Amino acid sequence: MVPRQVFASVRANAFALLPPARGGIATPGILIAIEGIDGSGISTQSRALTRWLKDSGHSAVCTKEPTAGPVGQLIRRSLRGQGSAAHVSEPVLAALFAADRLDHLQRVIEPALGRGEIVVCDRYLLSSFAYQSLAVDMDWLRQLNRRARRPDLTLWLTVSPATSRQRRVSRVTDERYESDDHLALVSAQMRDLSRRLSGELHILPVDGEGSVSDVLTRLQAAVTERLR
Ligand code: TYD
Repeated sequence: MVPRQVFASVRANAFALLPPARGGIATPGILIAIEGIDGSGISTQSRALTRWLKDSGHSAVCTKEPTAGPVGQLIRRSLRGQGSAAHVSEPVLAALFAADRLDHLQRVIEPALGRGEIVVCDRYLLSSFAYQSLAVDMDWLRQLNRRARRPDLTLWLTVSPATSRQRRVSRVTDERYESDDHLALVSAQMRDLSRRLSGELHILPVDGEGSVSDVLTRLQAAVTERLR
């Protein structure tokens, strides 16, 4: 089903009639993923969008990947190069991201969707496909993530390398993927995948340049358009 039809049916019954998403279980809520390269403003905008949805009267929850759960903690140690987790290989990390996602779905996402809530997820499937496919076979990645419910909407924040760099300078970073050269590759991969997986992940590019409120306004317009 194309996104417009999905959201038309959602509007028809106050978010209660969403059909089963491919690869997942039928639940009445809406799953919105916010994606982009490091420094594109994903975390800030995920929180702001959730606040706006709540202020608009919706039941909404903001959550993120990698999670704070057991698998997510292992992933973070690996990304930061801490202890023995530092030496986890790219295929193993790809499997861990997929395992963390299943854990996240079971513990947080599916229960919230089951209550009819809008779940705003800071990073989801597009991150796995874009970051991990640089080192791991795409077909295998798809297999690993086969059981992960597809998002109803993926909002992909697009930013220039200069903006990404500028937003990353002032924060403590995860080391593994955060060099400018690597992020240029991830960015190109996201652009390519946003075309190839557009129907499957319901991807909408959103200009991530400008102030926090500029970008939020664009996200609000994108969500409103899809929910109309
Ligand atoms: P990030 O959003 O930067 O977390 P934080 O804001 O807490 O630093 O995510 C951490 C890194 O994980 C980021 O570089 C992208 C990467 N990542 C993947 O490579 N694959 C995935 O499936 C996910 C969810 C994240």
